[in-house]
Amino acid sequence: METLNILRRMTGILTLMTVTILLMLIAMLVMNFTQKSESFGCGVIEENYNSPALQLTETEIKGKELFDANCRQCHAVTEEVIVGPGLKGISERRDEQWLLAWIKNSQKVIKSGDAYANELLKKYGGAQMTIFESLKDEEIRAILSYVNSEKSSGIMP
Ligand code: HEC
Repeated sequence: METLNILRRMTGILTLMTVTILLMLIAMLVMNFTQKSESFGCGVIEENYNSPALQLTETEIKGKELFDANCRQCHAVTEEVIVGPGLKGISERRDEQWLLAWIKNSQKVIKSGDAYANELLKKYGGAQMTIFESLKDEEIRAILSYVNSEKSSGIMP
């Protein structure tokens, strides 16, 4: 009887200890997690502080989003050729009216007999640019202001 009682007490103590240890572990995990996310937040802020993204205006950020979603698979904002020409300095090469018409429907501009457009088509092996008739003028202007901001940020060669 005596030993049984001692055993019972010991299991009781053991269970209590296990529960305590588990609770401590959970507490440590939670603390670790909050600490990590805090330092993660800090890191991001620091990174942003030094990155050119912070220098972008609201319009340019919107333009970057549109560019990433619609143009980046074929164009770089540098001079690098991907499928189409690098867009660095595009606003110096072409005026806004031309760019608006081209980006909305490059086929139309090519068919209209525009010499520059036909040269481009030839130069890029007849590759056709996607038609973006759903883009509004202000969205295209935002894309262009983003492209031009990359040029002036000096980060890209
Ligand atoms: C599927 C590939 C593709 C996509 C997507 C694309 N382009 Fe193009 N782009 C081209 C090609 C190829 C040319 C060269 C002309 C041609 O072959 O039609 C070109 C030419 C251009 C030009 C003229 C460049 C110059 O040097 O005169 C501009 C400006 C341009 N694209 C802007 C854009 C913008 C802005 C977007 C996104 C809204 C976009 N393109 C999406 C393939 C693409």
